[in-house]
Amino acid sequence: MKPVKVGLLGLGTVGGGTLNVLVRNAAEIARRAGREIVVSHAAAREYDPSALEGLDRVQVSDDAFSVVREPEVDIVVELIGGYSPARELVLEAIANGKHVVTANKALIALHGNEIFAAAQEKGVTVAFEAAVAGGIPIIKALREGLAANHIEWIAGIINGTGNFILTEMRDKGRDFADVLAEAQALGYAEADPTFDVEGIDAAHKLTILASLAFGIPLQFDRCFTEGISRIEPQDVTWAEELGYRIKHLGVARKTAEGVELRVHPTLIPERRLIANVDGVMNAVLVKGDAVGPTLYYGAGAGSLPTASAVVADIIDVTRTLTTDPENRVPHLAFQPDELSDLPVLPIEQIETAYYLRMTAQDRPGVVAAVAGILGDAGISIEAMHQKEPAEGETEVPVVMLTRRVREAQMNDAIARIEALDAITGPVTRIRVETLS
Ligand code: HSE
Repeated sequence: MKPVKVGLLGLGTVGGGTLNVLVRNAAEIARRAGREIVVSHAAAREYDPSALEGLDRVQVSDDAFSVVREPEVDIVVELIGGYSPARELVLEAIANGKHVVTANKALIALHGNEIFAAAQEKGVTVAFEAAVAGGIPIIKALREGLAANHIEWIAGIINGTGNFILTEMRDKGRDFADVLAEAQALGYAEADPTFDVEGIDAAHKLTILASLAFGIPLQFDRCFTEGISRIEPQDVTWAEELGYRIKHLGVARKTAEGVELRVHPTLIPERRLIANVDGVMNAVLVKGDAVGPTLYYGAGAGSLPTASAVVADIIDVTRTLTTDPENRVPHLAFQPDELSDLPVLPIEQIETAYYLRMTAQDRPGVVAAVAGILGDAGISIEAMHQKEPAEGETEVPVVMLTRRVREAQMNDAIARIEALDAITGPVTRIRVETLS
């Protein structure tokens, strides 16, 4: 059988890794795919030829559109990232009858509905395993391995850079900016690193996971997103004292009222396996009604781990080249006409427990006033910590863990606490998930 020809858009961290894996493992890959897979064309503006294997057999251009228009190319692999021109390139590839593999989570989260509809129309496949959690085959697990289940919830550490920062801050007391610079040098961070630290990258990935889990259209704009840039070293220490770890978690949960879709720093009991996922590693915990909790762990970023997922998709597409389009695995796991209109809930409607930290004047009645506000709001305090003020200090940190309560109720209580004269500055609030 003729080799399958791949057109690679991008020869950077992931593109270079993909070329190298396809070249290095060519024989093993052909044994699995049933056909030889070769990169015949590539597009890149800047690349390092010394880091790339088999480049002499690839026709490289600086015009990505020439690759998606190339009649010889069967599968276009989009590894440029970003919203545009990735969207235009992918849509044109589809219009030209090419299958597409992409690692672009931003593209799928924002434009996936449009892209999948175009692919459906044209009878081609768009595969995106590498878009979520790098090398972990979580898309395949959700779409195929767990297809028997009602998925109840998902909780994931799905941004390696953010997890790396939180881990280094906790273990080595390192400075936020210094760790971020290292993640950038290692090729983990997004082109705009605020995407990592403000949770936008995780929200892209969570949006995709939620659609696959619950059979809803992609709705990135409904995802609540809070970053890690306001986490202070003392919050990390307090959490440890209380038996928790702070992780930047993506949580998607199906409730009777709708779907929770939220990314925020979260206290997790330290005894949970996922609380011990450190460094650039990712992990996704999925609770299905039949299977129970399942945990997927691995490298969430980096050249070869991400290439592993990209190449797996290329092999999958190669295997399905002869399959009737109607009988392929649906893009969003559920048949396109079976997607539900279950609403994504606003954050005010979500119920969690909370960690609260505030700075209080060291004088009688302050803690009583705070407890009174929480009591009036029907919020039960589960634990409270306060330390003696240091010599000469007039303020002390007060830390509380509360029972589960609606976010709207907590917002009102926090506003009242912040209005107290004896409370200085804003109240730090971190949501708590027991993941039990
Ligand atoms: N910036 C991302 C991360 C890369 O740090 O996880 C992988 O999507």
